[in-house]
Amino acid sequence: MAQPNQTPMDRSDVTRITDLPQLAGQAATLSGWVTHTRSSGKVAFVVMRDGTGILQCVVVKTQVSAEVWERFQALTLETSLQVTGEVRADARAPGGVELGVTDLVILGPSALDYPIQPKEHGVDFLLDNRHFWLRTPRQVAIARIRNEVEQAIHDFFYERGFLRVDTPILTAAIGERSGLFATEYFDEGNAYLAQTGQLYGEAAAAAFGKIYTFGPTFRAEKSKTRRHLTEFWMIEPEVAFNDSAANIRLQEDFVAFLVQRVVERRGAELKELERDVSKLEKVKVPFPRIDYGDAVAILQKKGSAVQWGDDLGAEDEALLVEDHETPIFICNYPKEAKAFYMKENPADPRTVLCDDMLAPEGYGEIIGGSQREDDHDKLLARIHEEKLPVDAYSWYLDLRKYGTFVHSGFGLGLERTVAWICGTPHIRECIAFPRMMHRLYP
Ligand code: 4AD
Ligand code: MG
Repeated sequence: MAQPNQTPMDRSDVTRITDLPQLAGQAATLSGWVTHTRSSGKVAFVVMRDGTGILQCVVVKTQVSAEVWERFQALTLETSLQVTGEVRADARAPGGVELGVTDLVILGPSALDYPIQPKEHGVDFLLDNRHFWLRTPRQVAIARIRNEVEQAIHDFFYERGFLRVDTPILTAAIGERSGLFATEYFDEGNAYLAQTGQLYGEAAAAAFGKIYTFGPTFRAEKSKTRRHLTEFWMIEPEVAFNDSAANIRLQEDFVAFLVQRVVERRGAELKELERDVSKLEKVKVPFPRIDYGDAVAILQKKGSAVQWGDDLGAEDEALLVEDHETPIFICNYPKEAKAFYMKENPADPRTVLCDDMLAPEGYGEIIGGSQREDDHDKLLARIHEEKLPVDAYSWYLDLRKYGTFVHSGFGLGLERTVAWICGTPHIRECIAFPRMMHRLYP
């Protein structure tokens, strides 16, 4: 019977580098790729990786067959190989073990012109070779942190009784203001790639109470900034009967949980990225709330040309977060600066009940959230004002006709969040195969 709190056994019969510390003193066979070789003529070293770790293998000429020694000579960068040997504890080795090789088999030779060599490469070159760039330690660390964040997101919502809803990618023309990707859809005219799952999330919140979506979203924005992708992953909770204040509390609990989880479980990866973890450790609730009007005043004092009514750009956001060590909320933006579905602020009808969460260290907006307009006629008026196709929104308006309800939600951009936690300057490294205005390959 399985023991509680034991890592479930991987029933594939391949030993991985990560399993080796438990096998010290025993023989093991592993497969992987060569990252490095060196030889003194009598003793040779092969450093290999298998995606779970790095292993130093030691080949002693007098202790292996002539064929094995010859095969060592043929190893090139990224050759795939299988090695057999004794697992030896060695405190100096990465992972605390090394392998004393008794056998070595080449699985797949690697041509000498492997594109990514141990030297500096330009980022465009690396992006053209993203299928190989992914193999490097820094990219592996980022991918593992992204995976930790994704798992933490599911855990956070599952533990709080939220239901995950998968919303459509192919939609009629509804969503945010930014550009749409269109594709022909049989006899129905154009379908558009979803910019958000939110509107479906609102319908689902009325059915299930507390929901979240987790999926790819698409924006045909011609933005060539370090924080825009044309395809990115968004997490969108929607909660029936939460007002804007409750929505903001949920956001800070959520983000603090994600950061803490990575700090607790991904120390090795943060170290690989040379991330200053003390900065992440300061991410504790509550996060400051700053009213939009006050934010404009702060910005003007700092020399920004921003005027009341403007949306805040990346530079303004950086100026606002520079005084803070945790994320901050900018609350209740002017109506014109935000989407049609946000609820009018009863205390100041020029504004809406919304918030942007800005991450520190210059990262800026990682969340956009709001209480939703639950008044049918006000929502309809906003749809007309924004010249949106009323027909496409009729089902959405119906939610306000049949048992309308106070509800709020938000969208967290996964790559921006991962970029901040990892301390990477550009979000393109935070997704396996980034899609940007000028990049559809590989
Ligand atoms: O602020 P946005 O546009 O809000 C929405 O889409 C709402 N429907 C969310 C909701 O209330 N359910 O986008 C939310 C977040 C942003 O804060 C940002 O983190 C991320 O999505 N985001 C992008 N990330 C990468 N590339 C882009 N082009 C992004 N656009 C938005
Ligand atoms: Mg936004």
